[in-house]
Amino acid sequence: MQSPETVRLSLCSRFGGCASKVGAADLARVLAGVRFPEDAKVLVGLSTSDDAGVYQLTRGLALVQTVDFFTPIVDDPFDFGRIAATNALSDVYAMGGTPVTALNITAFPIDTLDESILRRILEGGAAVAAAAGVVILGGHTVKDEEPKYGMAVTGTIHPGRIVTNAGARPGDHLLLTKPIGAGILTTARRRDGIPESDLTVAIGEMTRLNAAARDTMLAHDAHAATDITGFGLLGHAGEMARASRVGIEIEAAAVPIFPRVLELIDLDFVSSGTEGNLTHHAEFTSFADHVTGAIRVALSDAMTSGGLLIAAEPRDIRAMYKELAPTHTCAIVGRITEDGDGTISVL
Ligand code: CO
Ligand code: CO
Repeated sequence: MQSPETVRLSLCSRFGGCASKVGAADLARVLAGVRFPEDAKVLVGLSTSDDAGVYQLTRGLALVQTVDFFTPIVDDPFDFGRIAATNALSDVYAMGGTPVTALNITAFPIDTLDESILRRILEGGAAVAAAAGVVILGGHTVKDEEPKYGMAVTGTIHPGRIVTNAGARPGDHLLLTKPIGAGILTTARRRDGIPESDLTVAIGEMTRLNAAARDTMLAHDAHAATDITGFGLLGHAGEMARASRVGIEIEAAAVPIFPRVLELIDLDFVSSGTEGNLTHHAEFTSFADHVTGAIRVALSDAMTSGGLLIAAEPRDIRAMYKELAPTHTCAIVGRITEDGDGTISVL
């Protein structure tokens, strides 16, 4: 039995966090062969790779549902629980919805790892749920060699106010509400490249709810939004570009990146999830010559619990930026173009 004092939770699994997600290309190939039931009440389904599904109940009310769980990316079980819960709730916020209830999804090696660790993970999730005004109705726990935790979340949304990733329009600007590169930092920590204290800023951001960003985008007429997680900034922006049938320009120098990330990329602290993203993103992304290799990797970083990427008219994006900037490390990072259907150019 490993005790809570000596165990390093993030080393209990082969892949960390959202890097443990099956890659976009693999997933697309698998899903292509499956026939899922269809229903006219499905307002957002599988077809657009959006953040959450939406199902209409009545004229003025729809359900928004999502599920997310993964392996530990940090050593502190309470922090892991908080990050996993914040990340699970994020997909509801990304659609403009209000999360209401959640179910815990847990896997744990109860015979080899002290049960107090599991309790701390669940306490972390409960703390985030409480802060979000979400009730945890129950859950399901299985024995597994590697710990895993997350939530299935149900929220509400007005059917006329759904913010998908398909609504971006040429001329829109793009706001990003958190820095990128948390996946590089947690990978470096797992491989002992940085001390625990270098993760503090990133843990602060990964446990920050996207609730305020959601409020701001609804108040200022967002056309499209998604949250940045396992497929990285370029992957999620690429999904928006394809779903909206537009091109996207990203201004590399404007993208907020956590401290030390570029130097750690040069030292090769890159997860297999990010490596996979890089290959996939090359198919639809072009880079200006001045964009360094390290920045290209950071833009593909497989993250957990990243910020929202929001498209709206330039003056609305400026208004959102002004509202969020005092409390969020946010930035206006690019714009939507007419040509370049589904492609991204990084300038
Ligand atoms: Co998402
Ligand atoms: Co998700």
